[in-house]
Amino acid sequence: MPFPLLATTPISSPLSPKNPLHRQPTKSPNNTYSLRLPNTISCEQKQVNNDGSSHQGIDRRNVLLGLGGLYGAATTTMAGGKVANADGGPVQPPDLSMCILATDSQADDEPVNCCPPNYSMSDIIDFELPPSYEPVNQRKPAHKLSPREIKRYKAAIAKMKQLNPKDPWNFMQQATIHCTFCNGAFFQVNYPDKLLQVHGNWLFLPWHRYYLYFWERILGKIIGDPTLAIPYWNWDTADGMFMPSVYLDDESSLYNDKRNHEHYKALMDFNYKNEPTPTPNPRPDEYRKVINRNYEMVEALFTKDQLAKASLFMGQPIVAGEEMSSKEMTENAGAIETLHNLAHEWVGPVAKPNHDMGNFYTAARDTLFFAHHANVDRMWDIYSKKRGYKVEFNDPDFLEASFLFYDENRQLVRCKVSDSLSAEQLGYTYAPEVCPWEGIGRRIRKEKTAKKQEAKKQLQLVEVSEFGTQPRPLDDPIRALVRRPKKNRSKLEMEEEIEVLVVDNIQFEPGTNIRFDVYISKPIEGLATPDYGEYAGRFSRIPHIHNKKFHHTGKARLQIGITELVENINAESSKGLVVTLVPRMGYPSIGGVFIELQEVDY
Ligand code: C2O
Repeated sequence: MPFPLLATTPISSPLSPKNPLHRQPTKSPNNTYSLRLPNTISCEQKQVNNDGSSHQGIDRRNVLLGLGGLYGAATTTMAGGKVANADGGPVQPPDLSMCILATDSQADDEPVNCCPPNYSMSDIIDFELPPSYEPVNQRKPAHKLSPREIKRYKAAIAKMKQLNPKDPWNFMQQATIHCTFCNGAFFQVNYPDKLLQVHGNWLFLPWHRYYLYFWERILGKIIGDPTLAIPYWNWDTADGMFMPSVYLDDESSLYNDKRNHEHYKALMDFNYKNEPTPTPNPRPDEYRKVINRNYEMVEALFTKDQLAKASLFMGQPIVAGEEMSSKEMTENAGAIETLHNLAHEWVGPVAKPNHDMGNFYTAARDTLFFAHHANVDRMWDIYSKKRGYKVEFNDPDFLEASFLFYDENRQLVRCKVSDSLSAEQLGYTYAPEVCPWEGIGRRIRKEKTAKKQEAKKQLQLVEVSEFGTQPRPLDDPIRALVRRPKKNRSKLEMEEEIEVLVVDNIQFEPGTNIRFDVYISKPIEGLATPDYGEYAGRFSRIPHIHNKKFHHTGKARLQIGITELVENINAESSKGLVVTLVPRMGYPSIGGVFIELQEVDY
């Protein structure tokens, strides 16, 4: 049974509006779920009302129904791919009284204090979703705010900045929350040597969703306007690929001077390298090329593979007590986190330690952080809707993982991941915007094929060999012929297992920015065409946790689903693929490249 793509049918079963876990599970006819996504679930479809009108008329329960039907037996199905050495259960919130000095990896492990002002743990309540009679607030693109909305937002932030510095609502206090969860200010409860970290794993999206959620509500409270919605940086559209101008007014509360001033008027290039000499902005006649390339990268977030296996998009599972920061730590960010790093690098200044946006320790001191993350959150929203709200990981270790935040009543609340899975349930939504990146890959491929046909005769094929068994430095592009575990798979096989390209044992200096892009192409009788082929995905990492006590070398693994891409380049009958790793930033080394089959989520 294909799962419902959008639930628009009337509600008949009694659903608890609060916690999707308490809803009746909908049984699938058998235990095998396969992801049968037609190619055509468009991003615009994510808007329940497709006419571009406001969301006031939405029955939020429609969205809930989607969730409820997909929850299944949360307690019996475990997501695969867990690499935990011990199943420590869901990650628990930290003990606030045990806050330690965090570290700034780019400043020689300079200890930094981001401990919250109030250490009392006695006064924590469980988070409750906002009542459904509350209006749904609509987050809009920052470059499309009305003058009234701009004024309101600036006023709210100005007030937040003026609060008592010890007030948990104070702008800097809010900013340091990010530091505590990214730079190692807390050990995990019961694991005195394992630091808490919400980046590089499946907690990335839920944690940041809550962070913004409370920030938004606190701002609303501060100005006494509960309808306040934070704007988002709509960097996935051509008009939005610039720093939104409201953030550049140096007289306003949204301004932050610790940015790369070269980029104030520049088109954001997703291939940007932060080098001492700023990348010259493309000439306007080259804008199209850059924009399309950016679009391609956004579109690559939503391949069938990524939709079929949430860990590829969200990040890999992590459980309590698992190494989040140690010699053995492996970072396993999902595609969205990886792509999101770019805006941090783009906004942050070139000079190390790249404060503010370019370094996780200080990132949230820039108001643009929240606009950026609102769009990241919107990408998750699009992702969820494209999956028909099928829960990303039907696993208590995910759903029951929890965090602590100060809410809009200055109350500490414990928030579970399971309550974060739908924006609408949290009382906000995203203004319907077109997604110009949809279908871009197909269009570009068409053009390329036409060109290739012309140039075919002059095409010089080059030899490629296998990666080998030794780690290799990635200074220049590495090209390798990688064997596929199986060719000519049937449609059914493809629905049950996706083909995943793994770049393994990526090692790097933890205090550095690392980025490389991955392309694949179809070999021609064991030889490769000189061009890299199709963009498949990216590895990227921003300096964050680095505590010499714990680890000296950063280690990560990159996984990219390539089933759809292989189909698109008609390589299903090939024994292997040509994989090209193109370094963009930093000097990582690569342990190995291989392709494996992985079961889809259900
Ligand atoms: Cu917590 Cu953009 O990172």
